[in-house]
Amino acid sequence: MRENIALRPALPADAPALAALFRASVEVLAQEDYSEAQVEAWAALADDEAAFAKKLADELTIVATVGSEIAGFASLKGADHLDMLYVHPAHIRRGVGTGLCDAMEKLAGARRAASLTADVSDCAHAFFAARKYEAQKRNMVFLGDEVLGNTTMTKKLASAPEKIQ
Ligand SMILES: CC(C)(COP(=O)(O)OP(=O)(O)OC[C@H]1O[C@@H](n2cnc3c(N)ncnc32)[C@H](O)[C@@H]1OP(=O)(O)O)[C@@H](O)C(=O)NCCC(=O)NCCS
Repeated sequence: MRENIALRPALPADAPALAALFRASVEVLAQEDYSEAQVEAWAALADDEAAFAKKLADELTIVATVGSEIAGFASLKGADHLDMLYVHPAHIRRGVGTGLCDAMEKLAGARRAASLTADVSDCAHAFFAARKYEAQKRNMVFLGDEVLGNTTMTKKLASAPEKIQ
C-alpha cells in the first residue's frame, strides 16, 4: 500500500526525531547486509546530536510525513550529492523513499546539476538500481574500528541539458 506522504523542509526542532529515525532505520534495515558491529558503528553517527543537527542544517534536508508522523528524510549536499536517505522501518516499501528521492532529483535539477550521485549502502542498492542509478565504484568507509563497504551510484537527471558538441 502506497502511503500518502507530505514533504517539507526539515526544521532545527526536528533534529532529535531525525536522529532517532536514522538510528532505527540503520539498526533494522542494515542488519542483513552488515555485521552487528558495523551496524552499531553506522547508527552511532547520530549519537552526537549537535553534530547531527549541524549536518541536517548544512545540507538541504527534507522530511516526509504521514499524518503527524515523520516517516523518513533525505538531504542534498551541494548541487549533486544525495547524502542521506532514511525511511523508518515501520514505513518501508510504501513509496516514502521514492517520494523523497523524486524530490531530491528535482532539487538537484533546480540547482542545475546534470546528475545526482549517492554513496549507496548495500541495503539500499536495489532501491537505487530500480531508479536507474548506475554503479561507478566500490568504497570503504572507516568508522572507528569498523570498515563498511558502499557503492557510488549516479543517475543522469532528465532535466540535465544535453552537452553541446
Ligand atoms: C533504501 C530505502 C530508503 C528505501 O525506502 P522505501 O520507502 O522502502 O522505498 P520505496 O517503498 O519507495 O521502494 C521503491 C522501490 O525500490 C525497490 N526497493 C526498495 N527497497 C528494496 C529492498 N529492500 N529490496 C529490493 N528492492 C527494494 C523496489 O523496487 C521498490 O518498489 P516496490 O516496493 O514496488 O517493489 C530504505 O530501505 C532505507 O531507509 N534503508 C536504510 C537506510 C539506507 O540504507 N539508506 C540509504 C543510504 S545511501
